[in-house]
Amino acid sequence: MKAESKAKRYERIYEQVKGLIDATTYPISRMATINALLHHKFNYYYWTGFYELVNGDLVVSAYQGPVACLKLKKDTGVCWAGINAQETVIVENVHEFPGHIACSSASNSEIVVPVKNPKGETVAVLDVDSKEYAAFDEADKVGLEKLVSLIYS
Ligand code: SME
Repeated sequence: MKAESKAKRYERIYEQVKGLIDATTYPISRMATINALLHHKFNYYYWTGFYELVNGDLVVSAYQGPVACLKLKKDTGVCWAGINAQETVIVENVHEFPGHIACSSASNSEIVVPVKNPKGETVAVLDVDSKEYAAFDEADKVGLEKLVSLIYS
């Protein structure tokens, strides 16, 4: 998908989410709504979901796609890399990422975007997997970072 078309689609989803999320400030309802919208709007998305930090564990929250790992081994894999770096991680080929946790063998590339609370603490990540290699780029990073900023707005 072209960067320009991606950017426009993320912009439309952003406007849609903004119109929906005012119904509640509860972060998990907002995550679930963002998740459902995203998953059905991009055909290169295969698994779309959030992992939340709960008492030091990174556990699965709202998601769409095949059943996934409930808890991710600490400091291992792409989601923990996003938590620890507190910035977006894009992996073009997950099979080359040290410690990558394969919840599904069909995933070939991945993007992980940190979710920050109003104090600026990273409390979760949005994780998207694709069956395509190198599916995610700067346009996904910009679009998704903007979307997750709505969760605690
Ligand atoms: N691949 C992730 C684990 C979560 S699944 O992709 C749904 C990781 O390495 O952290």
